[in-house]
Amino acid sequence: MMSAQTRNRIAAAIALSAAPALAACGEEPEELPVIEQIVVREPGQPIAAAVTGGGAADLVAAGEAAFSLCSSCHVAEPGQPSAAGPNLHSVVGREAGALDDFAYSDALTASGITWDAAQLDRFLTDPSAAVPGTSMAAGAVADADRRAAIIAYLASLGQ
Ligand code: HEC
Repeated sequence: MMSAQTRNRIAAAIALSAAPALAACGEEPEELPVIEQIVVREPGQPIAAAVTGGGAADLVAAGEAAFSLCSSCHVAEPGQPSAAGPNLHSVVGREAGALDDFAYSDALTASGITWDAAQLDRFLTDPSAAVPGTSMAAGAVADADRRAAIIAYLASLGQ
């Protein structure tokens, strides 16, 4: 019988090995990076919060690729005007609804959320369930590891 820790190690290793495949989506497959780190995470803890070192770089790369799910509405470069959604540069650590150049829903502005990994994970799982009345009508990400990668990417852009 596997211990919970072993299961978590395996789950994290699978997530890290899946990351380069995501990053390579649509490109010629490159030589796959070797997994050099096994990450132990507590049940329920996002992988992004548990990863350090080389594995984190893979996760960020996977998140950057997966951000294509968001980029129809969101930019993430510093100083760029918000588009159909608010600019997500430095969103980690920011209060919800904080940008002056975006007309947020009252629901999001009044939510009292400060975006950390856990809040982002909750919001991206199901925006309307996390913030009833939000105007973010698309962009839910069902896959937990993909959410973790996107959050790691957003966190890598600075706080
Ligand atoms: C169809 C357009 C659309 C897509 C696709 C989309 N979003 Fe959004 N997003 C919005 C809108 C509109 C808002 C503002 C919501 C509100 O005011 O209630 C928003 C708000 C947010 C916020 C809150 C930002 C703040 O300043 O408080 C985050 C975080 C966010 N989106 C992340 C994402 C991520 C990550 C993805 C991709 C997985 C994504 N969104 C996909 C339209 C979109």
